Amino acid sequence: MTKRLIQVVGTEKLFEGAEDERRRIAMDLHDQTLADLSSILRDLQGFASVGDDPCRQQVQELEISLTRAMSNLRDIMHNLHPQTLDILGLGAALEAHLGRQCEGPGLPQYHFYCNAGIAALGLSRLQQLALYRIGIEAISNVIKHADAGRFEVGLELRDGLLVLSVEDNGRGFSDPSPGDGKGRGLNNLRERARAIGAEVEWLGSRFSSGTRFELRLSVTALLESQSVGKKD
Ligand SMILES: Nc1ncnc2c1ncn2[C@@H]1O[C@H](COP(=O)(O)OP(=O)(O)O)[C@@H](O)[C@H]1O
Ligand SMILES: [Mg+2]
Repeated sequence: MTKRLIQVVGTEKLFEGAEDERRRIAMDLHDQTLADLSSILRDLQGFASVGDDPCRQQVQELEISLTRAMSNLRDIMHNLHPQTLDILGLGAALEAHLGRQCEGPGLPQYHFYCNAGIAALGLSRLQQLALYRIGIEAISNVIKHADAGRFEVGLELRDGLLVLSVEDNGRGFSDPSPGDGKGRGLNNLRERARAIGAEVEWLGSRFSSGTRFELRLSVTALLESQSVGKKD
């Protein structure tokens, strides 16, 4: 086994522990906190028809606030453990994320494409999770920083590589070298890419002044690390 492969499998194991912990927290939040809040909401709804008008209005306002808090909690649970990945697979989970993030006025238009061969690769859950989290960070950066009118997200197979790309037509930015004091997002993204043996790069967009983020992962290395991971 090559040194690089040993490194990738070792880091994957570390991330596996962290992901298990996140899944456990998401389950606790669901089974305990969300269940408690749902029961409070039901009690509040029981009050909606009693009391005088100002009192009823207050109860309704409380209901709205509580419903919003529960929805925020569901988002947190989803970020901790994206169940759509288990149910739909990587491509559809990324597309569903785009649908959730980019609805509403003032947000950039997006186009998503996914090569059918991706599903046939049999990516492990951990590999899918890493790619999903990297994808959503790159997408979030477009929404937060790029000032773009549109962007494209692609998952494709090209020359023996799995390529995940996010290309926007925004303001662009110069090479984000590690440790240059920029936000945590890019560093986390690099860590996750390293954990699955992928390379990442930010380039000028080929079509505009914007940015093209690209992750490249050798399909051969990916299949090798899957079979090593299974033997452990
Ligand atoms: N697609 C993009 N277009 C323009 N600037 C970007 C893009 N992606 C990242 N950046 C720049 O890189 C910086 C660091 O990003 P990141 O580490 O993800 O920080 P944050 O946590 O603030 O999102 C951002 O503050 C922004 O200046
Ligand atoms: Mg970011």
